Amino acid sequence: MREFIYLCCCLSFYFTYATQAQNFGYSGNGETRDDWKRMAKEDLNIALNLKPTIAVAKNVIMYLGDGMGASTVTAGRILKGQKQNKTGEESVLSFDKFPHVALSKTYNQDAQTADSAATATAFLCGVKANLGTIGLDGRARRNNCTSASQDTHVTSILDWSLAEGKSVGVVTNTRITHATPAALYAHVPERDWEGDSKLEPMVACRDIALQLIDDNIDIHVWLFAYDHMAYEIDRTDKEPSLAEMTEKAIRILRKNPKGYFLLVEGGRIDHGHHDSKPAKALHDLVAFDHAVAKGVEMTNEQDTLIVTTADHSHVFSIAGYPTRGNPIFGLVDDTKGGFLLAKDNKTFTTLVYGNGPGHNLTHSRQNLSNADTIENKEYISQSAVPLDSETHGGEDVSIFARGPMSHLFHGVHEQHYIAHVMAYASCVGDYKADKDCAKSQIKPIINGSSAARISFVMLVILCLLATV
Ligand SMILES: *[C@@H]1O[C@H](CO)[C@@H](O)[C@H](O)[C@H]1NC(C)=O
Ligand SMILES: *[C@@H]1O[C@H](CO)[C@@H](O)[C@H](O)[C@H]1NC(C)=O
Ligand SMILES: *[C@@H]1O[C@H](CO)[C@@H](O)[C@H](O)[C@H]1NC(C)=O
Ligand SMILES: *[C@@H]1O[C@H](CO)[C@@H](O)[C@H](O)[C@H]1NC(C)=O
Ligand SMILES: *[C@@H]1O[C@H](CO)[C@@H](O)[C@H](O)[C@H]1NC(C)=O
Ligand SMILES: *[C@@H]1O[C@H](CO)[C@@H](O)[C@H](O)[C@H]1NC(C)=O
Ligand SMILES: [Zn+2]
Repeated sequence: MREFIYLCCCLSFYFTYATQAQNFGYSGNGETRDDWKRMAKEDLNIALNLKPTIAVAKNVIMYLGDGMGASTVTAGRILKGQKQNKTGEESVLSFDKFPHVALSKTYNQDAQTADSAATATAFLCGVKANLGTIGLDGRARRNNCTSASQDTHVTSILDWSLAEGKSVGVVTNTRITHATPAALYAHVPERDWEGDSKLEPMVACRDIALQLIDDNIDIHVWLFAYDHMAYEIDRTDKEPSLAEMTEKAIRILRKNPKGYFLLVEGGRIDHGHHDSKPAKALHDLVAFDHAVAKGVEMTNEQDTLIVTTADHSHVFSIAGYPTRGNPIFGLVDDTKGGFLLAKDNKTFTTLVYGNGPGHNLTHSRQNLSNADTIENKEYISQSAVPLDSETHGGEDVSIFARGPMSHLFHGVHEQHYIAHVMAYASCVGDYKADKDCAKSQIKPIINGSSAARISFVMLVILCLLATV
């Protein structure tokens, strides 16, 4: 009798759940459990076959996404997929495929949340610096010319690479005197001293533009506008894309048999965020991804180190619980065809900022139900704290690396470590001697004929010993 009851329970359980389960297909993109397992096994297989590339980096390309924190990478990746009419979350950026990934601690010598000048000094010159300063060590104070004495000057991977006969280039969509490219060649205690207009009283300090021209710096520059170039979403055919400029740069630089160092900056991701316009920032992220893909396509993993990273993050969040495939610029949906309401009974977007211009001081938060947050590329996302310009974020950013010695990026690093790995891999600067750089890690390959010769010599010695 008891067995019968058990059987009935089991059967009713079976009919209730098993039959009901058949009514549901797989959600999202319809991936089956076997699909997920297959994906993981493919990834596992790649990991199991991973071998470090122990070689000298003839060339180094550094891709710097200005302000490209982890949330920007993720949201940009979703946008990339959605532009191809996919759900987006599963899509893959070119640098997602790089074998070595690490974290970079971005704080400045005197600041918890960093700016682009001091961070560029860290990853291009190899020492941390004070906020707002370029090419100077931690003794130089911002906006103080006397503190920026000659002995505070630090050299960059541009100087180190040129000294070894390599070519150096920079591709950027910002002004060439803007903070990131400036750290390659300039020494200035105030990033805003780009041209002489702002520097009248400071006779002892030369502005950034003057240093670039006066010092006759041997650098190839690719930029196509006097000011910042257009955002990718606003770009017309009059301006080349970041990928097109990168291609041109590599074609020219690779003529040098001693190799090159190239800095490619996606500089306007940062500007889009400061304005709290996610469409500007994220379409620029996708353009940056194309530039990385172009570099990967044109170089050889055996002789070119590619490092993709950011200088700092932004207070940019992917929030709420939107459904898989929900438009990345859209409102958070409620999975029933409507939208979720916040405690103020108003709808809200997935992309929001911790602070910035998207906070209305005179009116309460806008009900977004009738707002166009998706097609309006000028849409300003909401923020909690009202500021004219949204700020950088202080959390770690990612380092994605591929090529010779890229396995040296393996954990949580201080940001200035990046310059040291690039120098070590390419045998320049402090690491120019063969015994101090990647060259010392290359095990001599004993080939057939030399191995035979060694055996022969050993044999002769043994014979001599035996006869003695
Ligand atoms: C995505 O879909 C839209 C509308 O159906 C179409 O116009 C567009 O060409 C598609 N884009 C891609 C990349 O398939
Ligand atoms: C600027 O730096 C110099 C030298 O380090 C210092 O003596 C001076 O007090 C600083 N000026 C200001 C305004 O902080
Ligand atoms: C939101 O709507 C609910 C249900 O209509 C109501 O009880 C609540 O007071 C509303 N909250 C606000 C902040 O208006
Ligand atoms: C916001 O708009 C939604 C959709 O039209 C509506 O249901 C909701 O009541 C509105 N909230 C307020 C506070 O007006
Ligand atoms: C604040 O909201 C009101 C009403 O929607 C709008 O007229 C005004 O322009 C907004 N102010 C700012 C600074 O966005
Ligand atoms: C083997 O080593 C010898 C001496 O080091 C070198 O001359 C020769 O080219 C090498 N042969 C091959 C096949 O690499
Ligand atoms: Zn910024």
